[in-house]
Amino acid sequence: MIGTPGTASATRVVLLGSGELGREVAIEAVRLGCEVVACDRYPGAPAMAPAHRSHVLTMSDPDQLRVVLNEERERPCARLIIVPEIEAIATEVLAEFEAGGAHVVPNARAARLTMDREGIRRLAAEELGLQTSPYEFCDSEEELAAAAERLGFPCVIKPIMSSSGKGQSVARSAAEIAASWAYSQEGGRIGGGRVICEAFVDFDYELTLLTVRHACGTSFCAPIGHRQEGGDYRESWQPAAVDPAVLEKCQSVARAITDGLGGHGIFGVELFVAGEEVLFSEVSPRPHDTGLVTIASQDLSEFALHVRAILGLPVPAESIPLRSPAASAVILAEHELEEPLYKGVGQALATEEHVRLLIFGKPSASPGRRMGVVIATDDAVGTAREAAAAAAREVSVVAK
Ligand SMILES: Nc1ncnc2c1ncn2[C@@H]1O[C@H](COP(=O)(O)OP(=O)(O)OP(=O)(O)O)[C@@H](O)[C@H]1O
Ligand SMILES: [Mg+2]
Repeated sequence: MIGTPGTASATRVVLLGSGELGREVAIEAVRLGCEVVACDRYPGAPAMAPAHRSHVLTMSDPDQLRVVLNEERERPCARLIIVPEIEAIATEVLAEFEAGGAHVVPNARAARLTMDREGIRRLAAEELGLQTSPYEFCDSEEELAAAAERLGFPCVIKPIMSSSGKGQSVARSAAEIAASWAYSQEGGRIGGGRVICEAFVDFDYELTLLTVRHACGTSFCAPIGHRQEGGDYRESWQPAAVDPAVLEKCQSVARAITDGLGGHGIFGVELFVAGEEVLFSEVSPRPHDTGLVTIASQDLSEFALHVRAILGLPVPAESIPLRSPAASAVILAEHELEEPLYKGVGQALATEEHVRLLIFGKPSASPGRRMGVVIATDDAVGTAREAAAAAAREVSVVAK
């Protein structure tokens, strides 16, 4: 049952993190009649626009998070659902609220395990026995140098608390270890600390396998291919061409890791494919940025699926139908700007009939910050990729 927003019967969704992915979750939740509360560290965050209310706070600060969640729990409503949309959250507070009867998506343990690379890697490789790149965790430059010698070069160094490629680098020889260590200490979410050193995987391609755990089982979306630069995604497409036997392996890895985390909702399982081998890389227990393409490629986007699964509503069994091949291409800012303007919007939309543009409405820009995305459909993935890239090139983020 769904209630009326703003009343004691409300189905309240509290989004912890209000970026562009949260905005789509908020829209889908609002469409189904939920009351949406958007939280982020700055006012004017994307998901605050479609939400009923918002809070500005530091979600990694347990005291601040407790105050906001208490306030939301005390307001009358029929159902309180806490939906983490980012990793940097004081997950011990989520566990407290879950113990007190709140519904945390997919659950507080999954949020804790995936907030740092160590939790999820140890679960995947050491408990579930999934194949991953060889890795070691290191707390100093000396430990990193020794680990890199054992793992071999090139190797990839990442702060355990970071996302979107921040603080991540590839060291090609022992001479580069000092620079990689220094870079990792600047880029982490909590300003340095432990890193993971992984052997570099010379994969043929990488995939995101969107996996939905719902009341009636587990369903898979068609695989999404993507291209990363500097650890951040630039374009994605669906369906990716994957040999059926390899796809079966991908689905069994995705099922193992999502069953290991539990709960209901969508998961973005990141995989590397090398020949017949499938390596697990990481997983988001929430919509994935490369899955923005599903807004056009599927009747039910990853955001719609997430909300349905969370609310216990029907989700297609086993495989989520694809509507059309599609591709996405990101629009990045190049400069530090307040109240940015978007030039070339009309030109972008005029390039092709099947092109859509999302502008996230972020109040400020910085070099490399994702400000929008173009999504294009076509009869084939290749032409959809070209159309998305061509339209994205038309848009620039400029000063007022
Ligand atoms: N061991 C590895 N070998 C080769 N490439 C790698 C390795 N680890 C990461 N990469 C590349 O870097 C990208 C980003 O890595 P990863 O997903 O671990 O970082 P992230 O900061 O969590 O990124 P995001 O938040 O965008 O998912 C991967 O998608 C892949 O292209
Ligand atoms: Mg990733």
